[in-house]
Amino acid sequence: MIDRAVVRVPGKINLQLSVGPLQKDGYHELATVFQSVSLYDELTLTVLDSDEIVIESDGKSGIPDGKENLAFRAAELMRRSFEIESGIAIKIKKEIPIAGGMAGGSANAGATIVGIDSLFGLGLNRNEMEKLGSEIGADVPFTISGGTAIGTGRGDRITPVLSRGAYHWVLALSSSGLSTPAVYNECDRLREGMDIAAPHVSDELLQSLTHGDAKSLGKKLVNDLQPAACSLKPALRLILDVGIDYGALGGIVSGSGPTVAFLAENEEHALDLVVALTSSGVVGNVVRAQGPVPGARVVSDRT
Ligand code: C5P
Repeated sequence: MIDRAVVRVPGKINLQLSVGPLQKDGYHELATVFQSVSLYDELTLTVLDSDEIVIESDGKSGIPDGKENLAFRAAELMRRSFEIESGIAIKIKKEIPIAGGMAGGSANAGATIVGIDSLFGLGLNRNEMEKLGSEIGADVPFTISGGTAIGTGRGDRITPVLSRGAYHWVLALSSSGLSTPAVYNECDRLREGMDIAAPHVSDELLQSLTHGDAKSLGKKLVNDLQPAACSLKPALRLILDVGIDYGALGGIVSGSGPTVAFLAENEEHALDLVVALTSSGVVGNVVRAQGPVPGARVVSDRT
């Protein structure tokens, strides 16, 4: 056993998020294509002598420290599943926006599973870790594998996808988040009385990824939650318009929002877009990220 593990985990964008009808279990069937992008949270897990789970934030991020924190729930699940008696401290340094539609909370759960596997030498494979992750939340399994992948079911059944090249993203971050259940509820409200078909992953979008064709990918980006996110936060429409006017290959609300992701042609184009969006005054915080990148990884440990 080691006594400390540091795990780095990226955020994600949904290149496609097609939402089926509401099911009896309160979830929606999804057909989604995830891509991990280079905004990272870093978790430091330390074994404690006590039997507690302690969440420590970097102070400024304002993450919950109890059961509402998905990392806390993941640590509880791991201790229960593997009869771990020692407590665990989890220090979270955040770069992924909180409640931003980039799976920040889920990524912290994924990283906790990977970190505890390493701390206690459990020797779990990725599939086993993803299965545990799906007990915590629909987005957790993807944060463990990362890269580019299709998600079906609740979005928790992951199949890797061939993707060539690097994609350059410009992310417009909001100062306040959106609640995922609230966005799904709003989506149901907007679609009331409509016949909603079972969702399917777009073959054309997959082809764009296979060819590494950013231009065509930009036109295929689609998110069924976008109208709902824009309805709850109308400023997102303006941000989307401004990014497209400034020449983004495509723009989309990421997951349940409110982060807006714009696809650029290359690094230089991404830099131009950052400058244009920042000077437009409609977005407070604009950052660049590249995808795909690998999922949760132990970056250092110490015995
Ligand atoms: O699984 P997770 O806890 O991340 O999901 C948060 C909420 O998002 C769920 O409680 C549900 O309201 C909504 N959701 C959904 N259908 C999915 C995934 C999430 O309705 N496939």
